[in-house]
Amino acid sequence: MSNVVSYELIENIGVISINSPPVNALSQAVREGILKAVVAAQDDDSQAIVLCCEGRTFIAGADITEFGKPPMEPGLPTVLDAIENSSKPVIAAIHGTALGGGFEVSLACHYRCAIASAKVGLPEVKLGLLPGAGGTQRVPRIAGVKAALDMIATGNPIAAAKAKELGLIDELVDSDDLKAGAIQYAKNLLASNAPLKRIRDITIDPATIEAGFFDAARKKLALRARGQIAPDKIVSCIEAAVNLPMDEGLKRERELFGELITSPESAAMRHIFFAERQAAKIKDLPRDTPLRDINKVAIIGGGTMGGGIAMCFANVGIPVLMLEINDEALQRGMDIINKNYKITVKKGKLDASKMQDRLDLISGTTNYEDLGEVDLVIEAVFENLELKKEIFAKLDRVCKQGAILASNTSYQDIDAIAEATSRPQDVLGLHFFSPANVMKLLEVVRGEKTADDVLATSMKIGKKIGKVCALSRVCYGFIGNRMLGGYGREAQMLLMDGCTPVQIDSALERFGMAMGPLAMGDLAGLDVGYKARQGRTDLPDDPKLYRMGTLLVEMGRHGQKTGAGFYKYDPETRKRMSDPEVEAMIKEEAAKIGVEQRDISDEEILQRCFYPLINEGARILEEGIAQRPSDIDVVYVFGYAFPAAKGGPMHYADNIGLKNVYDKICEFRDREGGELYWKPAPLLEKLANEGKTFAQWAKEQS
Ligand code: 3HC
Ligand code: NAI
Repeated sequence: MSNVVSYELIENIGVISINSPPVNALSQAVREGILKAVVAAQDDDSQAIVLCCEGRTFIAGADITEFGKPPMEPGLPTVLDAIENSSKPVIAAIHGTALGGGFEVSLACHYRCAIASAKVGLPEVKLGLLPGAGGTQRVPRIAGVKAALDMIATGNPIAAAKAKELGLIDELVDSDDLKAGAIQYAKNLLASNAPLKRIRDITIDPATIEAGFFDAARKKLALRARGQIAPDKIVSCIEAAVNLPMDEGLKRERELFGELITSPESAAMRHIFFAERQAAKIKDLPRDTPLRDINKVAIIGGGTMGGGIAMCFANVGIPVLMLEINDEALQRGMDIINKNYKITVKKGKLDASKMQDRLDLISGTTNYEDLGEVDLVIEAVFENLELKKEIFAKLDRVCKQGAILASNTSYQDIDAIAEATSRPQDVLGLHFFSPANVMKLLEVVRGEKTADDVLATSMKIGKKIGKVCALSRVCYGFIGNRMLGGYGREAQMLLMDGCTPVQIDSALERFGMAMGPLAMGDLAGLDVGYKARQGRTDLPDDPKLYRMGTLLVEMGRHGQKTGAGFYKYDPETRKRMSDPEVEAMIKEEAAKIGVEQRDISDEEILQRCFYPLINEGARILEEGIAQRPSDIDVVYVFGYAFPAAKGGPMHYADNIGLKNVYDKICEFRDREGGELYWKPAPLLEKLANEGKTFAQWAKEQS
């Protein structure tokens, strides 16, 4: 039939098999192959048609690499029409993940069967899109408007059993041989004279939708949209499914899909999709680098980070041994883990028996001698280099040969830590983000001597525990925290220059940041930055620098934990409220040091906060700390909640134009204290002069 789609007649059943690795995406060749097979099956001896896939999954969606290119025939709607209008029943046989266009293909079929481990979903929103091949029209017709909205607006897949409950799957078949099971199911349907069920024939009675449902949905989604334009259009499509005939609903869906696919938001989110996968690849490591087995993990330190890291491993069934300084500290750590799991159960995201299984995988000790058999150790004790060196020397003595020794340090020198052992090749940084069981990013920090198989294994285990991994070389703060320095500094400088905390945070939150930098400071604790600054000798003697952050800490306002910081907090709800006392103080302090305050636009707030990130990002690239600009974007989107709809700081800079960013940095340099704070990175200057983007530079490097 074609090299990616085959067709065979097995008794009276025509079987269409798609084999287009890795995920059977709907490339032009796949679309053409399916169309030809369906057409051919109309005229042969088959009485029903089974559509299934080879390899690890059913069709995982449209081929995203084709987006942005000129359309190629046949389009997906043509293929779906052929399936839906088939004179013989077409049955989709689903395994793995039927996603996006893949799930939409199955919805055009007359019946769907699946193995129990399969998942189905419409994740287009995660690419800044909406389902463009009938998903928004067919899912509400079967599963109801509410379930459809949940599924399409979150983009989260659902398990086959749940899909069956919702009517999206008709039959669960034995997982040992899906093809045979699907053929048998097809025969059963024929034997029972089952009708050609076309979802398009179902109508939704508008009277069944409660008044105001769509307005409420729009409002709710707008609150969490974070720069995304797709959720609102998804609501419009589902509304169309209720109010318009099928063909008009499909037309509406197509129009809105067309608007989204050309939007910068979708381009940014597609960039992040590929960047995430690219980041997992280490440029100079062969694909077949051998891996070490990780069957048991130890965590040193059961505090804020250690507890969360332990949960990450227990969640995927890997036993964890947590080591603390004494029984009391150990118990405290265990209690926090327990509490966190209980919250997850309460939210309905985990059932109680699974919680117990996970807790059973976490044990504790205060004795280093117990670490002899672990395959990976992650140290998460206080941020103190001497202490960490001491611990690594101990680990060197007790851990078996080949164990991977990792530190979760935020700032310390991994190479210095590695030198405290006799096996620096086994040492690296595994930098989790807080809360470690929630945040998706894992910075994998490659020391001078880290062995290839240690890196490859760490990338693999990172993915296994559900993290998005990005590789960093050793420097102060690695990729993420190093870049953050200028962002936090400028937020505080802007206060002195005339902004209120609310003005700064709101501007950044409107841009799409989950939380503005001052509110974030309050959440993390202003004392953390204060203490870190105390230890630094490289900071200039500038009375404007971190003035408010320092004064607030000295007044006992350490942020949320003391009920007040840049903001004050409602003791019950923790709701943040602007504090006139702080606003007055900002004015007084500016006057004291002779800063003339002025009105500052939102645009300047964004430039002052983001351009230092971009500038430092350029330095990080030049120094080879990050492998590629897209890795930096991954770090910011998954570790610092930078909006995916803006594609991360480097993609955002490319969109603004590097010349514009460079010119503005020069303007700030001339106006805001010279090169001390605003020294353009040589790479930024070079690319600005050459009229290039970071993405083009990365292509030239590879
Ligand atoms: N198009 C093109 N390439 C795709 C792809 C797609 N839809 N989905 C995955 N790939 C590629 C990945 O880029 C990766 O390539 P690489 O090996 O060169 O890096 C490879 O397939 C394997 O992907 P993963 O590393 O993600 O493999 P996993 O096994 O971890 O996950 C998956 C598999 C769950 C299918 C995951 O890849 C995924 O979520 N894919 C995207 C699904 C999606 O978003 N579908 C909707 C597309 S939009 C659409 O369908 C529009 C329609 O409504 C018209
Ligand atoms: P924490 O203070 O909450 O916990 C540290 C724990 O280590 C305490 O429970 C302490 O009893 C234990 N400990 C101290 N000395 C020990 C020893 N010799 N043996 C065993 N246990 C010992 O600290 P937190 O916040 O969890 O930070 C830990 C590490 O993670 C630090 O290096 C920090 O820089 C890093 N980190 C912290 C993040 C955060 O947001 N808190 C984010 C990312 C990294």
